[in-house]
Amino acid sequence: MKKGLAIFSVILLICMLSACGTSQTSGSGGEKKVLQMATSADYKPFEYKDTAKGSDIMGFDVDLIHALADKLGYKIEIKDMDFNSLVPALQAKQADIVLAGMTPTEDRKKNVDFTDIYYTAKHMIVSKKGSGIKTVDDLKGKTLGVQLGSIQEGKAKELQKKTAFKIENRNRIPDLVQEMNAGRFDAAIIEDTVAKGYFEADKNLEGFVIQDSEEAGSAIALQKDSPYTKEFNKALKELKDSGELEKLIVKWFGGSQK
Ligand code: ARG
Repeated sequence: MKKGLAIFSVILLICMLSACGTSQTSGSGGEKKVLQMATSADYKPFEYKDTAKGSDIMGFDVDLIHALADKLGYKIEIKDMDFNSLVPALQAKQADIVLAGMTPTEDRKKNVDFTDIYYTAKHMIVSKKGSGIKTVDDLKGKTLGVQLGSIQEGKAKELQKKTAFKIENRNRIPDLVQEMNAGRFDAAIIEDTVAKGYFEADKNLEGFVIQDSEEAGSAIALQKDSPYTKEFNKALKELKDSGELEKLIVKWFGGSQK
């Protein structure tokens, strides 16, 4: 009888130490905790859908979040929405985290928290070759496309104070390029890192960086007072220090920022 009890205890102990137990970093049943990430997958190479390869969202931000989640022991589910809906999604707690090449502006910081910046870009005016738009002054009397809710929309409004042009917004970056090609927009304001991809795909486009414009850095956005901000910042720093972030930058942007 005693022997039976001892064997039972040993089995129970093994069970507790192995799969039957719940470990610290995992949720119930040994499953990793799932974080809901929202993005606006219209922003190659940050996040986009390659229709030829199926509809999975891929890009720099996707690789980055997976590298961070691996470190921290989370599973990530990604949902796609318009850029303008991302901050509201965090506020409504419909997403835990946003990676969308999003710049941590003072305005947004009123509603969401941000990690440190992981990549920086500049504002660029993109137009069709032969449009004669070489400076901001050349925009006079023209129509400039912006992505709704982006900091480029804010930048356009700022430029409008000096030069009289019309601003039109769209939800998705490819729509801006399409409107330009259709002749409805004369130019669009897009980050240089994203514009680069359009120049490669469409030889009819050109652009210039707006001089002494402040940098448009990207950071991870989280719910206000999110419990995750601190650990993501720490993991981000580890990726920076180990050179892994640099590797992802070279993979997706083809060049280093150093
Ligand atoms: N960095 C800019 C901003 O925060 C543009 C980001 C647009 N991102 C996107 N996935 N469409 O406003």
